[in-house]
Parts: sequence; C-alpha cells; structure tokens
Amino acid sequence: MGLDKLMAGNKLWAENIKKSDPRFFEKLSELQNPEYLWIGCSDSRISPSSSLGLLPGQMFVHRNVANLVNHTDMNCLSAMQFAVEVLNVRHIIVSGHFGCGGVKAAMDDSRLGLIDNWLRHIQDIMHKYEGDLAAIADVDKRVDKLCTLNVIEQVINVGETTIVQDAWARGQNLAVHGWIYTIADGIYRDLNVSVRSLEELDAFRDRTYADRSHIAAGK
Ligand code: CO
Repeated sequence: MGLDKLMAGNKLWAENIKKSDPRFFEKLSELQNPEYLWIGCSDSRISPSSSLGLLPGQMFVHRNVANLVNHTDMNCLSAMQFAVEVLNVRHIIVSGHFGCGGVKAAMDDSRLGLIDNWLRHIQDIMHKYEGDLAAIADVDKRVDKLCTLNVIEQVINVGETTIVQDAWARGQNLAVHGWIYTIADGIYRDLNVSVRSLEELDAFRDRTYADRSHIAAGK
C-alpha cells in the first residue's frame, strides 16, 4: 500500500516527543489551550506548527486553497468562532505564501475545475488592484504581489467577521495579523498589517483603499 512508512514515521515521532516529556500526550489529551489561530494555504510544502517551533496543542489551524476567509464559508467561520469564543486565542494569523499555486491559477485564468469558482475570490482581488499589478512587468513578482494583497484582504475579512467584531466589543484581547511565508527559505515575513480593535481595522482599511485609489488615479 505504501502507507507503512507513514505509520512507522508516526511511531518514531511520538517516541521522540515522549523522550523529552514522557507525559506529553497524556497531558495534551486533557486540555487544548492554544494561543494562536493560523489560517493558511493547504500547500503541502508548509508545516504550520513545526515551522513556527510549536508543539501539538499550541496552535489551532484552518487551511484551504490560497488561505481565503470568505464571509459565507461556514467551515472557516466555525473554526474561527470556536477558536475565539471557546479556546480564547489571542492572535489570528492569516498566513499567505509567495508563489501560491491558487493565486497563480487565478491570475492565469486557467481552467482546473470546481476550484476555479473558489479562486474567483482571488480574481476579484486581482481586479480591485489592477493598477498596482499591471505596473509589475515580471510575472513571478506579479504573482507574489497578488499573494501579499490577498493576505491584506483576508486580514480585513477576518476583522469584518461578526466573530472578531463581537470579541472586540466584549473587550476581548484579540489581534489579527498578516504574514507571508517563503517556501524557498522557510521564513515568515510579518506584513505589519496587525489590527487589534475596530478603530485600528477602520483606519487600516481606509489607509489600504485610499492608497489604492491614489495609485489607480496614476498620481
Ligand atoms: Co498556496
């Protein structure tokens, strides 16, 4: 079947963790208390927890193709609601990555099947920032720019959810961050788009869109 090596790998992994903490899994089974919710791409080349030096139990994870946060995606919203309201995470990290295949496919307008409908959300972003993107001659750099813009848009989308807005209204300590990961060196970059309140979100959204109209006007 070819899956034996997965089972063997799993045993080795669990043994290694137990070497440094014999009761690790026993303790973990009693409580889940993560401080972070990571929303990222399904790309197989990214290992969210281990790439951040975290152990099981430290980060709640939601993944989909091209790390999208859509207002009607009950899967993503449910994960977010559980993380914020039940687990009380303090940070939501939207993590994109350069060279994202989903972003690339959206930009190429290639026909891949059902997923094209999902990637329409990225094409919406692409049209929104048409001026900025057209100014970049290199195709790979243009894709990377769209990967970055996608993270920024998803940070705003997270902030716009009733989940995050209600948390802020309750006075809950909750920050939303936008990061981008480079597969070629395994390093994350903070896009410095963190928002910690409704006021910060409003200011960030206004700043983001004001900048865009400025560029679109060719000034
Ligand atoms: Co991707």
